[in-house]
Amino acid sequence: MILLYDSLTGNTRRFAEQLAARLGLPAEPLAAYAGGDALLLTYTFGRGEVPASTRQFLAQFAPQVRGVVASGSYHWGQNFGRAGRVIAAEWGIPLVAIINKSGSQADLERVQQWIVGQN
Ligand SMILES: Cc1cc2nc3c(=O)[nH]c(=O)nc-3n(C[C@H](O)[C@H](O)[C@H](O)COP(=O)(O)O)c2cc1C
Repeated sequence: MILLYDSLTGNTRRFAEQLAARLGLPAEPLAAYAGGDALLLTYTFGRGEVPASTRQFLAQFAPQVRGVVASGSYHWGQNFGRAGRVIAAEWGIPLVAIINKSGSQADLERVQQWIVGQN
């Protein structure tokens, strides 16, 4: 499993890198993707929207994406982390977690358990 992140201000990248360090897995930006099973980590933009860069990636590679983690901010109320729900609904990709900013220890644990369960 490769950890593929889309990140504008670094929160999602930080979470992906922490996860990678715990699991000994590669974490890379979307542009570096070279194939294989992937966990997509992205963020929420606009008003609860999926970033255009993530949409472009999914248009091409959705079949290889095993799950999605979406970052957001509690500040956005009902739209908190909505990108994750949109991706799950539009592409049929399992929603693994919605995290606030760069996530918590509990988020790391939860996503780690999910990845371990995939093998
Ligand atoms: C213009 C803008 C719009 C945002 N809209 C939302 C939103 O609708 N829902 C949400 O949960 N977070 C929203 N956020 C917060 C980001 O998703 C959050 O800060 C996230 O951690 C950013 O990830 P990144 O640092 O990897 O880019 C928005 C942030 C910006 C700058």
